[in-house]
This record gives sequence, C-alpha cells and structure tokens, in this order.
Amino acid sequence: MSHWYKPVFAAVYDPIMARIEAGGLSDWRRAFLSGLSGQVLEIGSGTGVNFPFYPEGVQLIASDPSGPMIHRARRKAPKDKNIRFIQAGIGDRALDESIREGSLDAIVSTLVLCSVPEPNAAIDRFWKWLKPGGKVILIEHIHATKPVNQRLQQWVNPVWRAVADGCNLTRSTDAYFKESPFTCIEEHYDILAVRWYRAIYQKGPA
Ligand SMILES: C[S@@+](CC[C@H](N)C(=O)[O-])C[C@H]1O[C@@H](n2cnc3c(N)ncnc32)[C@H](O)[C@@H]1O
Repeated sequence: MSHWYKPVFAAVYDPIMARIEAGGLSDWRRAFLSGLSGQVLEIGSGTGVNFPFYPEGVQLIASDPSGPMIHRARRKAPKDKNIRFIQAGIGDRALDESIREGSLDAIVSTLVLCSVPEPNAAIDRFWKWLKPGGKVILIEHIHATKPVNQRLQQWVNPVWRAVADGCNLTRSTDAYFKESPFTCIEEHYDILAVRWYRAIYQKGPA
C-alpha cells in the first residue's frame, strides 16, 4: 500500500463519517459505551471517535495498527480520561504481549471486525482476555440479507476493500458471534445506508 494512503485515510475518516454519525451512529455509540466500567480494551480505536462516550473512571486501552490513526486519537483524547495507547492490531504480537489473560471488563469493537483478517481468531482472543462476566460491545456493519444486495456487495467488495483500508462489506459478524461460546445479552439489527449489527455479548451465562 502506498505510504500516503494511511495518513490520508486517517485525515478523511471523520468528515466522511459525519453524516452517518449524525444519522444515528453517535447515538448507538453513546447508548452502548456509557454503561462501561473498569478495564476496557478498544480495538481499532481509529481517530478516537468513541472517547467522549466512555464514563469517567474507565481505564481505557486504545489500540490500532495505524500510526496516523493513533496520532489523531492521541490528539483527540480528553485530558480527564485515563487512556493508554498501543499501536497494534488484533493478531499483532504487541497486543498479545500487552493484554493479560482474564484481565478485561470489556472489549469494544466498532466498525473494526469488517477489517480484521481473521474475525474468528479475534473472537478467541476476546474470550481469553475477558474476565468471567466480561462484555464484548459490538457496533459493526454486516452483509446484506436480500440476495440482490448481497450480490451487489460481493461485486463491489474488492474495490471497496482497496479504497477503505481493508474493510469488507460482506462480513457476517453476527453469525460469527452466534457460533462462539459468548452469550448474547442484547442485539439490534438496523439499516443505516447498509445493514448494521449492534450487540452486547458476555463471557459466561447472562
Ligand atoms: C473503519 S475504522 C473504525 C474506527 C473506529 N473504531 C470507529 O468506530 O469509527 C477501522 C479501524 O480498524 C483498524 N484496523 C484495521 N485492521 C485492524 C486489525 N487487524 N486489528 C485492529 N484494528 C484494525 C484501522 O486502522 C481503523 O482505524
């Protein structure tokens, strides 16, 4: 990938997302993040869009493999919030070495599992890193259900993935979690330009 791509993607991300944030995404973020507490890992924290929605007292680890994203997130970090940054993605040794098994109260993934190369391997790591009763907070766009829209997304996906930093339109993140050992405690399906899955999963019984 060209060296200019990552800084440009990081720079245009917030303006490109502004309409969809105003159309409901920001409200979903607020609703799911405002109840968190304790030690929280956010994967693919991007420019730090979620930071304002974490309550006081949360000890946040913000991780992202993109240097320009981490740079922007550091600048955006509210001074009163306790945030530790790790430049690493799911599957990177730096993250595996930084997170202790059974140490987290919650893991936040918003618009990230569409880009992670092996989502099931990510889910296995979530299970390992969470305490019993720990939660996974998901806000992810997922594959369409109507066959005509599915075919369109499959057709567009190779180009989309190239321009949108590895993002896939065809991920069925809901199905991956339903097949996992996690317990679903809340889930919503929405249409906002594309199909979205918002859910809270727990390690252990509800
Ligand atoms: C679409 S952005 C989402 C940013 C932010 N989470 C949000 O809600 O707006 C996807 C982010 O995932 C990051 N990413 C890409 N591959 C990743 C991986 N393997 N593990 C973790 N994050 C990854 C990208 O660098 C990017 O910041």
